[in-house]
Amino acid sequence: MKVLVTGGCGYIGTHTLVDLISAGFEVVCLDSNICSDEKILKGVSSITGMVVPNHKVDLCDREALREVFLQNQIDAVIHFAALKQVYESVKKPLLYYQNNINSLLNLLFCLKEFSVSHFIFSSSCSVYGKVESLPVTEETPMGEIESPYANTKKMGEEILRDFYHIFHQKCVLLRYFNPVGAHETGEIGETPFGPPQNLAPIIMQTALGTREKLVVHGDDYSTRDGTCIRDYIHVMDIAHAHTKALEYSVAACEKSFCEVFNLGTGKGVTVLEAIRAFESVSGKKLRYDVGPRREGDVPAIYANNTKAQEKLLWSPERTIEDMMLSAWKWEAKRAK
Ligand SMILES: NC(=O)c1ccc[n+]([C@@H]2O[C@H](COP(=O)([O-])OP(=O)(O)OC[C@H]3O[C@@H](n4cnc5c(N)ncnc54)[C@H](O)[C@@H]3O)[C@@H](O)[C@H]2O)c1
Repeated sequence: MKVLVTGGCGYIGTHTLVDLISAGFEVVCLDSNICSDEKILKGVSSITGMVVPNHKVDLCDREALREVFLQNQIDAVIHFAALKQVYESVKKPLLYYQNNINSLLNLLFCLKEFSVSHFIFSSSCSVYGKVESLPVTEETPMGEIESPYANTKKMGEEILRDFYHIFHQKCVLLRYFNPVGAHETGEIGETPFGPPQNLAPIIMQTALGTREKLVVHGDDYSTRDGTCIRDYIHVMDIAHAHTKALEYSVAACEKSFCEVFNLGTGKGVTVLEAIRAFESVSGKKLRYDVGPRREGDVPAIYANNTKAQEKLLWSPERTIEDMMLSAWKWEAKRAK
């Protein structure tokens, strides 16, 4: 099967290329490189032994996208490409709606024109907004959406629900919790474009000394140590879920469906626990201050991943220590 991976030069895209290739899928990478550098594909090649060229195409350009479909017999699409900075999206909502929604629409036009039956969409736990009960299942009622970015994911899901039963599409919507870590080899990993907002890259910058210290946003939440709880999940576990989702879609007897799955470990980790995990695997002490709470942060969110375990036959295998160690290996290599 030939799988088009949009956003294939990005963080989760590169790791998924590796997992797909190891599972025997043929891959076609597409990325405009608006938030990435295609040199990262050298890392994919050195892990897999396969050269993966990039189609440098903006998904908002439908004619250029059609060319990629005309040149390749695509059987399935995994759609990672999107802008993903929550705080930037609050300042530039139109940019986010224009890029993330138009990209999806153009892809769906191509899916229909070229009769591609399998589609996997990168969604996010941010679609749940502020939830009332934990852990979050796929049925948990959604709270108020907190950013234009999250809204593009929610709207994307809704567009796909409208699309699938009319065009006999098999859609898998994967709601990621907090992807962290890097490939075990340290050949690929996360390269934040602009100042990072997520904990792991901030930890790495602090350890490398490019940031003097990190700020823990609030230690007075009603959690076990007062800091926020998130469901960190190893990026290779997330990547493997895409391979499992594709296999699930191919094996499914139904002609069309649209199914949603949470991708989290099901275990919440506090900010201080994540810091300690990093310190224990790296042997480095991190400097941090406790600052005020950050607007919009929920005290805790973590997934119930039973549905993915039962239906996709997927379960996360790596610990928070594995996440920190692999991320550190990648950062240390990159810093050389
Ligand atoms: N990393 C996370 O914490 C996280 C959490 C939940 C959901 N997601 C979603 O997962 C997906 C992948 O995330 P990531 O962390 O790998 O992001 P990333 O920024 O590393 O990768 C996204 C890639 O998409 C490309 N891209 C963006 N717009 C494009 C366009 N119009 N045409 C072609 N390419 C375009 C970028 O150049 C980039 O390489 C995104 O949809 C993101 O919203 C990520």
